[in-house]
Amino acid sequence: MSIHISAAPGEIAPIVLLPGDPLRAKYIATTFLSSPQLVSETRNCLFYTGSYKGQQISVGASGMGCPSIGIYSYELYTEYQVNTIIRIGTCGAYDPALQLFDLINVKQAVSESTFALHAWGIKGSVLNSQGNTYEVINQLAKQKKLPLQEGAIHSSDVFYSNQEGFSPLAMEHGCLAVEMESFALFANATHCKKNAACLLTVSDLIAAKQKLTPEQREKALLPMIDLALDTAASLKIRN
Ligand code: HPA
Repeated sequence: MSIHISAAPGEIAPIVLLPGDPLRAKYIATTFLSSPQLVSETRNCLFYTGSYKGQQISVGASGMGCPSIGIYSYELYTEYQVNTIIRIGTCGAYDPALQLFDLINVKQAVSESTFALHAWGIKGSVLNSQGNTYEVINQLAKQKKLPLQEGAIHSSDVFYSNQEGFSPLAMEHGCLAVEMESFALFANATHCKKNAACLLTVSDLIAAKQKLTPEQREKALLPMIDLALDTAASLKIRN
């Protein structure tokens, strides 16, 4: 049991899929895992553990933004001996070549956030995904013939703002899209010497002002969920 997760020791698997939304965690666990057990519901931030293709996997929620994923990922790494966290989320496209439903494997997270510096003295505004999970995702996507973009994304601390145009820092680093969590996840993984990856589905085209409808969202996320689950099953075998 940690401050924000009430699972008993051993009730969280070494590999965790981490969507932002607790109800998405519940949907993934109850739809795709065999024998899913609810292991924590502190603050309604649900965590489940079950098996997928014979491997134990946990699925839980990170909440929104760097402070929230910073708390959950740190407690998972340090109090539950989690090796690998795969964030699965949505993002807004900056790159006009991206389309709704496109999948991005995040190589680097770029951020104005002081999280990494403030928490761990890690300097700089660019952090890499950690460990080989990023490569495994690329290999599996190739096997599945699933189109996957790879590159840098912007982890922003703001969703609403009165600023015109995209973040200058994000543009300087050629960020494909924007989300709000990867930078803190990669910072914690760097500090804890653990593995972290992030898969994103494009849910918004920012310049074109288009969004997935709520009905489209459910189906849109299925290829990402499938890829993340197969990656998790394959990592477990490799570990
Ligand atoms: N901004 C930040 N995070 C997001 C967005 C966005 O436009 N879309 C999906 N996640």
